[in-house]
Amino acid sequence: MKLTTIIGARPQFIKAAAVSRRFAALEGVSEGIVHTGQHYDANMSGVFFDELDIPRPKHNLGIGGGSHGVMTGRQLEAIEAVLLAEKPDWVLVYGDTNSTLAGALAAVKLHIPVAHVEAGLRSFNRRMPEEINRVLTDHAADRLFAPTETAMQNLRNEGLPQERLHLVGDVMYDASLYYRDRARMPRWFEKLGVAPGEFVLATVHRAENTDDLQRLQGIMNGLAEAGRPVVLPLHPRTRERLDRMRIDRQQNLHFVEPAGYLEMVWLEANCHCVATDSGGVQKEAYFFAKPCVTLRDETEWVELVENGWNAIVGADSKAISSAIANAKAPSVRSELYGAGDAAVKIVEALA
Ligand code: UD1
Ligand code: UDP
Repeated sequence: MKLTTIIGARPQFIKAAAVSRRFAALEGVSEGIVHTGQHYDANMSGVFFDELDIPRPKHNLGIGGGSHGVMTGRQLEAIEAVLLAEKPDWVLVYGDTNSTLAGALAAVKLHIPVAHVEAGLRSFNRRMPEEINRVLTDHAADRLFAPTETAMQNLRNEGLPQERLHLVGDVMYDASLYYRDRARMPRWFEKLGVAPGEFVLATVHRAENTDDLQRLQGIMNGLAEAGRPVVLPLHPRTRERLDRMRIDRQQNLHFVEPAGYLEMVWLEANCHCVATDSGGVQKEAYFFAKPCVTLRDETEWVELVENGWNAIVGADSKAISSAIANAKAPSVRSELYGAGDAAVKIVEALA
């Protein structure tokens, strides 16, 4: 079986690491990776290939930046050319980025079957670019690998046929189990003068927060008033916005460069709680038994909220600071995201 995997953004490198490792262990399967170039800085891309033993991309398209239409359109054109040359049996796409949609669309139009990992997630907020990418990708895909029963139900509600759907669990859970023993403290951590177990680990990058001055200011104020040191590895998009908007840097906010995954896992394992607008980081907080304050108005990962592990607070500074002050891990923690064998199930279903 010949497989082409299309990835381009940070969370996709981590998800693909879990699955590619399983493909590599199988005879008769060859996987070629296409990196669209959506993320391109060394600490947003190269570090993950170096640390997580992801096979080197066979094709680097170098297409990042620009508007949604420009990025997705240019990726679509370039991926089509690769697929015409490679002629894979399957195209594998992950998550909900512009690279996901471009990969799915290029493949389906060439009548190459598409497999979508992390299918069925919905925020029901159609202003989110990711929501459009997910819905369209799910409807283009031939195999949909859903992480949760809620995701399965979302797909059924949209009329997708049962035979395309597979409940497999979450590949990010597989990754966190596999890499947790290799977690390492970031080199810069000791210089911050922050004690392990005491700090809030925060990430902010979502368009709805970074493109809105009032929301971004509300989040920064809420974190500053949280009563604890906050370690914030800054996505380049957020760093650029903070610089441009001249948002005040309060003393207890420690802005640092984007962390590598192994460093991020260490920060997650050693923080007091997490505050984030990231999809992946909300779940990782749970994997490491940390309460999470979500800096959005809704989440796709509703089971975390239902089980008391996640508080949805939006961008209101008072709501953020009080949620962090009250953050406490519930006493019960069940396996919401499968048994850590999602990648095995995906590989079995395709192979
Ligand atoms: C993208 C995904 C989002 C995902 C996130 C993961 C879409 C629509 N959004 O958002 O779903 O959660 O990746 O991190 O696909 N930039 C750099 N260097 C980089 C990468 C980005 O400087 O290596 C800057 C550029 O100015 C770029 C901006 O960040 O224009 C935004 O990058 P982009 O990939 O468009 O969106 P993300 O916010 O990263
Ligand atoms: N991550 C990382 N370094 C960082 C921030 C995040 O390695 O500085 C990892 C994080 O542990 C998770 C993934 O990137 O595995 C989440 O990606 P991101 O928040 O960029 O995107 P989302 O999940 O929201 O799509």
